[in-house]
This record gives sequence, C-alpha cells and structure tokens, in this order.
Amino acid sequence: MSDAAPLPADASVADRLYEAFLGALDLFAVHLGDRLGYYSALVDGPLTADELAGRCGSHPRYAREWLEQQAVSGLLSVESDDAAGVDDDASDRRRYRLPDATARALVDTRGTEYSAPLARFTAAVGSRIDALTTAHRTGGGVSWREFGEHARQAQADMNRPWFESELAPAFAGVPELAAILGRPGANVVDIGCGAGWSTIAVGRAWPQARVVGVDIDSPSIELARENARLAGTANVEFIAGDAQLLSTGGFDLALAFECIHDMPRPVEVLASVRAVLAEGAPLVVMDEAVGPAFSTDGDGDHAFDRVMYGFSVLLCLPDSMSHPDSVATGTVMRPSTLGRYAREAGFATVDVLPIEDFGFWRFYRLG
Ligand SMILES: C[S@@+](CC[C@H](N)C(=O)[O-])C[C@H]1O[C@@H](n2cnc3c(N)ncnc32)[C@H](O)[C@@H]1O
Repeated sequence: MSDAAPLPADASVADRLYEAFLGALDLFAVHLGDRLGYYSALVDGPLTADELAGRCGSHPRYAREWLEQQAVSGLLSVESDDAAGVDDDASDRRRYRLPDATARALVDTRGTEYSAPLARFTAAVGSRIDALTTAHRTGGGVSWREFGEHARQAQADMNRPWFESELAPAFAGVPELAAILGRPGANVVDIGCGAGWSTIAVGRAWPQARVVGVDIDSPSIELARENARLAGTANVEFIAGDAQLLSTGGFDLALAFECIHDMPRPVEVLASVRAVLAEGAPLVVMDEAVGPAFSTDGDGDHAFDRVMYGFSVLLCLPDSMSHPDSVATGTVMRPSTLGRYAREAGFATVDVLPIEDFGFWRFYRLG
C-alpha cells in the first residue's frame, strides 16, 4: 500500500462531467422526440401522453416517460391550471405544453435558433462510436457515408437557416460579389454543396445567375435535387462528383461552404477550382471561425475552438482520414492553414471578407 499523500479532493471536473452527462441525456432524448415527431405534435396545443402517442404512432408508456423527462428537464411545461400536474395518480390526465423557446429551438426549422441538428449529430456520432475508437487506434477513418443519414441531414438542417436567411444579404453587402451575381448569366459553382441549401439560396436571390452545386456524396446530391424541386428554383443544378475533377471552365464565382477542411486533398481541389474560374474570378470559402493559433483560452478569438475540436475528434477528422493519403486537416483549420493550401494551389491572395456574425463561420476570398 502506498503511503503517498492522497490527491486533494477536487470535485470540479466530476461536477462538470456530471453536467455534461445530463446534457448528453438531454440530447439523446431530444433526438428521440424529434424523430418521433413529438415536438411538432405539441405545436397545436398541450397533450396527454396517450394523445401524443396516438398522434405520433408511438407507445403510450414510453410517451409518458419521455414527457415526464422533458418536463423535469425544463424543455416542456406542465399545464399549470391542471390538478393532474401535481398529482401522480392522475398522471394519465396530465397535459404537457411546448414553450415558445423550445418551439424555436426544436420545431422552427427555418430559424437560426434551430438546434435539433445538434441532437442528430450526437446520435450519428454515438451510433459509430466503436468505429471511431478503432479509427483513433489504427489511424483509419469513418467516412461521411458511414456516418450516414443522420449526419448528412443534421449538417443540412443546421446550416439551412443561415443560408436561407443570411447568405444573400451578406453577399449583397460585399460589392464585388453583388456585382458578379447581379450580372445576367453569371456562372457560379458551389463545391461540397451537401443538400444544396447554399446553392438554392444563391440561385433564389439572383435568378439571372446559373448556380451549379457539386458534391462527391451522391445521396447528398439526391437530397439537393429534391430540395431545389420543392423550392422551385429553376436556375440551379446539381452534379454528383469530385470537385477535384471539375473540367468545365469559365465560372465567374466559386463557393465552398464548410467543406475544405473535410477534403482529404484540399490543395488539389483548390487548384482544380482555380483552373475552372474565369480570369480574375474569386473563390469564396466559408469555414470555421476558429482562432489564429492553438490556445487553451476559450474566449474571444478562440470562442469556437472548443466546439470545433469536438467536431474534429468525432466527425471531420475521421471522415477526412477515411480516404487514402489524406492531409488530415480536421475541423480546426486555422487561417494560416487555408492560406498555405491556397498558395500551394496557385492562388495569389487570401483575404477575410467583411461578413461578421455569421454563425460559426468566417468568409475568405481567394484570388
Ligand atoms: C460538412 S459538409 C458541408 C455541406 C454544405 N456545404 C453545408 O454547408 O451544409 C462537407 C461536404 O463536402 C463534400 N465533399 C468532401 N470532399 C469533396 C470533394 N472532393 N468534392 C466534392 N464534395 C466533397 C462532402 O460530401 C460533404 O457533403
């Protein structure tokens, strides 16, 4: 037995992890409610467990437990004028209400507070945790395709409100971009377009432009085509393929939203994009607004580093490393890293565009 002095008792990390555990439980329960259609069903008014289960086609006993968990967690409220609210014997009659703040976070898919995709990302990562553990051990990867429908849809749903409501005003405020997009017949390519919401947003705001979305993940392109059909945007089209293989030239503007850091060979892709741009045309890259260098200070310039390291460890780096000969950038792509990639791809300049307070992101102009 060691006679060394015991370490000082410091419960702060344990407390923090316990809070995180509660947060994880919240996210998984939110994911269940989201997938089962519970939050949407509660929009029309308070419901009992039986009524909720009846509307959503779920099991009443589970519905009751979920409703109680949500109420105890503060995401739903119990009808205050209902005696059953405090009487356990009358729990079958207890009605649960969707507060406005929860509706904004979990039902309003078009608002920038929409947070259900965070729960869906958590579920996607949780479902691949053994493969992730193996990848971290062996240096292998877990591809975007393996993360599957939950990650693909979470990505699309998380960025959609920003693209739909903020992208056009942001671009309209940058004179060069407004001028290019306002030209009749402007030719735009959106690489790594995912489910196409950025492509659709640009196409809708500038109907005289032609906007082509390209993504290597064919299920994403199928989603994008369907999203464009439903949106009724006729001036957008989608191509399933590797942006590195782009060959048709003469684009007046190229866009790359939150995808360069995922790419196993970003320099080759940037060089291919540069080759298909018209003389003097810019490439606009939107990527994470991480700090300029590694720091353990989570404030100011590094406010996003913690969340981005989380995404990196669990999603983006494993995706990137699932491809052979990946440069393995990770989500935390520093401005200096993008600058190096851009120079190696033949771009002469990299500037930060004056687009502020746009979600987690920073916009760069490569010219
Ligand atoms: C994180 S998602 C971003 C999707 C979308 N731009 C958005 O902001 O929601 C990254 C996307 O880049 C795509 N991608 C990765 N490498 C690519 C490549 N070489 N060519 C085209 N798309 C690529 C992935 O399939 C994925 O859809």
